[in-house]
Amino acid sequence: MANLTILVDNYVRAKGLLAQHGFALWCEAGSNRILFDTGAEGDVLRSNAEHLGVDLSTATDIVLSHGHWDHGGGLDVAMDLCSSARIWIPSGALLPRWHRSKSGNRDIALPQVVRSRLIVERKRWQEVSEPVELGSGIWITGPVPGARPDWTHRDLWRNELLDIPDDVPEEQAMVLDMPDGMVVVAGCAHYGIDNLLDRLGSLFPGRPLVSLVGGMHLESAPTQVVDRMVERLVAMGSRCLVPCHCSGWAAQARLHGKFGAHCEPGMVGKRLQF
Ligand SMILES: [Fe+2]
Ligand SMILES: [Fe+2]
Repeated sequence: MANLTILVDNYVRAKGLLAQHGFALWCEAGSNRILFDTGAEGDVLRSNAEHLGVDLSTATDIVLSHGHWDHGGGLDVAMDLCSSARIWIPSGALLPRWHRSKSGNRDIALPQVVRSRLIVERKRWQEVSEPVELGSGIWITGPVPGARPDWTHRDLWRNELLDIPDDVPEEQAMVLDMPDGMVVVAGCAHYGIDNLLDRLGSLFPGRPLVSLVGGMHLESAPTQVVDRMVERLVAMGSRCLVPCHCSGWAAQARLHGKFGAHCEPGMVGKRLQF
């Protein structure tokens, strides 16, 4: 059995919880207690965990999906709260990165305080470049390969001034391989859901995908892409879809239209049991 609780998201479902642009999810499966992503800087992760009765000090693992501020900005706080957790960071997550647009340039890398701490406490974390089994049937995929679709990394660059594009090559997902199929947790899905499904197909051939939870980065994806994703998810046996964070309202509405009550938006405080 696995219990999932959304700790950080752009929206909340109850009074007393705090919203923040970002994502973090708590997963209890077997003897593992996993914090998948940490949200952005600040007190939101700690406050929501406390409010929801999640004891972060019991964490066995912290997993970072990728090196953006809204997923790893809270890592500094998480490292204090989850003092005995193993820490898994995908290769390249500490590099600089920028969002450039007409409205201005923004540094969207992991905050300096996090990067400095990771350099100083290098022995405390492990770099991930291949799939790793964290516990029985609990996997992180390592960087998801494949050419990224344009809408998943529009306006993202490695440098504020030089045109070095950044398609977030390091991003990874988490897979709970349960008796009736996989439960998959995505952070921001810059890899594109198609590439994620391909990766799952090669790592876990023939396994049904019962649920996909997390940021799906479909905000400006063409509707045909969303529809094709639905077809693939249905073909893989999906019966529970929980789009969070950066999934995009239009895509979520379309997913809801296809999955009905089996598609529920994820928000802080949402709990799922598999
Ligand atoms: Fe994000
Ligand atoms: Fe991101």
